Amino acid sequence: MLERLAPDLHSIGPNPRNLLGIEDLQRPEIEHLLERGRFYKAVRRTEKLTTLRGRSIVNLFFEPSTRTRTSFEIAAKRLGADTISISALGTSLAKGESLVDTLNTLAAMNPDIIVMRHAASGAPHFLSRYLSTAMINAGDGLHEHPTQALLDALTILEVKGSLVGLRVAIIGDIAHSRVARSNLHLLSKFGADIVVCGPATTVSRNLTRLGPGIRLTHQMREAVRDADVIMMLRVQLERQNVEVFPKGEYFRYYGLSLEHVGLAKPDAIVLHPGPINRGREISSEVADSQRSMILSQVENGVAIRMAVLEWVCEE
Ligand code: CP
Repeated sequence: MLERLAPDLHSIGPNPRNLLGIEDLQRPEIEHLLERGRFYKAVRRTEKLTTLRGRSIVNLFFEPSTRTRTSFEIAAKRLGADTISISALGTSLAKGESLVDTLNTLAAMNPDIIVMRHAASGAPHFLSRYLSTAMINAGDGLHEHPTQALLDALTILEVKGSLVGLRVAIIGDIAHSRVARSNLHLLSKFGADIVVCGPATTVSRNLTRLGPGIRLTHQMREAVRDADVIMMLRVQLERQNVEVFPKGEYFRYYGLSLEHVGLAKPDAIVLHPGPINRGREISSEVADSQRSMILSQVENGVAIRMAVLEWVCEE
């Protein structure tokens, strides 16, 4: 479908370095990004860095965002880059310009990186074939959210030390979650023991093909039992064209309560990419508990995005 948007475009070369998804990355590349994320987290916030001095970065968000957009902007500024954030409502797309023409227009102003979030799965992959500007995927439809998986991995590693053999339960609206897909790619590359859990309408058998060590269940208690990490997902009402489960009953079957956390390992941690829907997929008692890493994830988002911006700009 995306090809039809630009039948006359010709691929450019040589291609710049992009970050489009975790699926494309080799384990050493992920390890490098996590290491640099750890490094940048340790750098004092007051320290002026010049790593990306003279570089310009465009944040182009066609969907709402608080965490990703703000942290990319903070990350760019901390590295000394110039940055501008644009939302779809404020662009000429509202006047009928196509996505391809908008991207070519922005690229003609010679930014070094375009960070893009778009509702269409594959949009950054498609556009990157025709742009000489490096592109970072800040979330594409149901497909991938690579920087979220990297910051999740950094958060887990800080507490657990390793991903190998770690029992990770990924629970919720799996079918509509780009966070789940990126995490499945990353965690399976690192030898985690992963159980995916959600309503039958959102958990496809095809998920086990994303990597080794992935099992499926529809039983919440089975998923959380003996887990080291419980990763909850937001119910993505905005992506559900049909009602895939009764919304009023969701918490009863797939909401995380303190009782569920009690079934996990005594030192288990709880992750959620945000924004959280209290009382829908997670109780306030869990979200605000000592086990919750939600705000650590947000903090690590800045460090990981610094690492990613640096990596994309490397010669
Ligand atoms: N986790 C995440 O992508 O949050 P935002 O939509 O606020 O960026």
